[in-house]
Amino acid sequence: MKKLTSAFAILASVCAAQPAVAFNKGDIIARIGAANINPNDSSSNIFVGITDLGLGVTVEDDTQIGLNFAYFLTDKLNIEVLAATPFTHDVNFGVNDPLSTGNKLGEVSHLPPTVTLNYYFNDPANAFQPYVGIGLNYTFIFDEEFSASNEAIGLSNFSLDDSFGLSAQIGADYMLNDKWFLNGSIRWIDIDTDATFDLNGTGGFVSSIEIDPTVTMISLGYRY
Ligand code: NI
Repeated sequence: MKKLTSAFAILASVCAAQPAVAFNKGDIIARIGAANINPNDSSSNIFVGITDLGLGVTVEDDTQIGLNFAYFLTDKLNIEVLAATPFTHDVNFGVNDPLSTGNKLGEVSHLPPTVTLNYYFNDPANAFQPYVGIGLNYTFIFDEEFSASNEAIGLSNFSLDDSFGLSAQIGADYMLNDKWFLNGSIRWIDIDTDATFDLNGTGGFVSSIEIDPTVTMISLGYRY
């Protein structure tokens, strides 16, 4: 019986010494891939002075190179930073546009760095490692500009405020070997802003623009 017990002890230690497929406390991982930001947008109406133009704005989607880095605080929890090359979105007159012109109003660029705490819940021996996360986003909005035809009619000084808000995501890593893995994630970010501009010397504004995008990312990852 004693021999059997020690045999079990040896077996247990051999199993414990097997390289775990999943991540471990202290691991640093990096992922690079394509990130699409698709706004679930809505906006209040455009005002010029006190005149309600009766239509809002829409924000269109964009795809860029997405990067993220994560550090494992425990075997199951990591803290992740999302970075990317700047996204540029067309801003159009809203779908309520009574003339349905679909005119491009202008465009804006932004960077949406997001810090997320993720929890991995699958068996560490499994190559498929799904996770859920919740985080904070700060979106820097810059290079706001009206299209040439809108500048020509006197629109200028287009400016959108930066945004700070919550984000949430689900994702999964699929381990190809001890170092490399594939990743897919879908993230929702609460990005809310407002716009100001001038029309031939009269101030205008859009008091609420909800961008609230779905960010879909497919990437290749590496564990250091
Ligand atoms: Ni929102």
